[in-house]
Amino acid sequence: MPLLEWTEDLNVGFELIDKQHKVLLDMINELYDALMEIRGQEALKKIVNRMVEYAAIHFMTEEKHMVEYGYEDYENHKIIHDSFSRKAVDLKNQLSDDGFVLSLDVLNFLRDWLVEHIQGTDRKYIPFFKETNFK
Ligand SMILES: [Fe+2]
Repeated sequence: MPLLEWTEDLNVGFELIDKQHKVLLDMINELYDALMEIRGQEALKKIVNRMVEYAAIHFMTEEKHMVEYGYEDYENHKIIHDSFSRKAVDLKNQLSDDGFVLSLDVLNFLRDWLVEHIQGTDRKYIPFFKETNFK
């Protein structure tokens, strides 16, 4: 069973963003599976590396539109994205250490962060993105 399943209430209603959120969700599930199957540190590291890269692409998609059209809560949203990015990079670095053990707590953190971010922070930009015709 995946750690996190996609449910309708995770949709923000913009095809590209929903698609990107699903990719992030898949990556968290993939990392969870890798942990459960006790795959090696290298395998975990590869998934986290991809997640770091993809999160950056996704955050850029949202931020670019916010900056371009002057979203009033941009600064705050950016701080939240940056803090996640820093944590993901920390995790990536920790995985370089052979002694580091990836815990379920970290997986739960990633899952909770994504869900709370989509349902809390991202949801707030829906009216603005609609108004400014995000595609
Ligand atoms: Fe966001």
